[in-house]
Amino acid sequence: TETLTVLGIESSCDDTAAAVLRETVEGGTEILSSIVFGQTELHSAFGGVVPEIAARAHAEKLDLSVAQAMRAANVDFTDLDMVAVTAGPGLIGGVISGVMCAKGIAAATGLPLVGVNHLAGHALTPRLTDQIPYPYLMLLVSGGHCQFLIARGPEDFTRLGGTIDDAPGEAFDKTARLLGLPQPGGPSVQGEALNGDPKRFRFPRPLLDRKDCNMSFSGLKTALMRMRDQIVAEKGGLSRQDRADLCAGFQAAVVDVLVAKTKRALEIYKAEAPEVATIAVAGGVAANTAIRAGLEQLCAEFDTQFVAPPLKLCTDNAAMIAYAGLERFKSGARDGMDLSARPRWPL
Ligand code: KG4
Ligand code: ZN
Repeated sequence: TETLTVLGIESSCDDTAAAVLRETVEGGTEILSSIVFGQTELHSAFGGVVPEIAARAHAEKLDLSVAQAMRAANVDFTDLDMVAVTAGPGLIGGVISGVMCAKGIAAATGLPLVGVNHLAGHALTPRLTDQIPYPYLMLLVSGGHCQFLIARGPEDFTRLGGTIDDAPGEAFDKTARLLGLPQPGGPSVQGEALNGDPKRFRFPRPLLDRKDCNMSFSGLKTALMRMRDQIVAEKGGLSRQDRADLCAGFQAAVVDVLVAKTKRALEIYKAEAPEVATIAVAGGVAANTAIRAGLEQLCAEFDTQFVAPPLKLCTDNAAMIAYAGLERFKSGARDGMDLSARPRWPL
């Protein structure tokens, strides 16, 4: 056939997802369907993703998500050209469930199987949505990840640096927990920060004195806890305004660190690609309006194109896995029945 149709499967964290992607005759790609089953309610009582519960929910929902994605795309197994699946990194129980599901389909249909690195899925999303050329600079910011990459090809990434401890999403989630705000913490902290004074509490800006692109966010949580405990000791509890000011101060620190380190990464990348400079973001934290505004302003100063995929493609989904699988497939990659699930898999 002239076009390629790909089934993508994702189950590495707390979303069970399947999608069907088609490469069009013109060489672009079209997302025919993208199904995501979240697990937020299942984990909400535990204050974080519980791997055992996640694995069981994935095993339960994988077949259904594949069936729904195929039905929504109006395709049959005979219309497919390949199956792409996240083979890591992630919570191993979920990754194994997804890989087993994909292998089952490949074995039953004879379709080629391609394993995909979840991070490559995120990192290639701006090509799926905006057709941007290599090389581009990528800032991946989610609940589990935070790193700068130069993307040069579907399997060719250079990591410029990243967090040495917590990811920013994790820091937002912990901040929310410490202040009694609902999960996921990102949106609730952002909402509170709108009414807060970012200057009332002075949060640290870790590692800003270093010339590299590494970041640290775990100290913000310690600082927040100290500030909160001091207010509670003095006044017996937190007022609405205290909470808003703490959120605003925390968020301003995250923005400052991310923007300063993105500036550093841009300098390194621009030395390599002065003409075609593009920076793209992906990951759930890319939804943050203050972070977006900070990065947009920086890109304007640096005469650099800023690409932020639509939110539902920034967070975990299977369309990005199908796309990354398609790029690998076109470069000749195939995996066999010995494809293994990897809990750790750096790009
Ligand atoms: O990419 P994602 O859906 O899942 C992975 O971590 O892989 O990202 C989820 C993270 C959560 O930590 C959530 O609190 C954070 O993204 N997040 C935000 C915002 N919306 C979601 N963080 C800051 N501001 C937001 N508006
Ligand atoms: Zn992810």
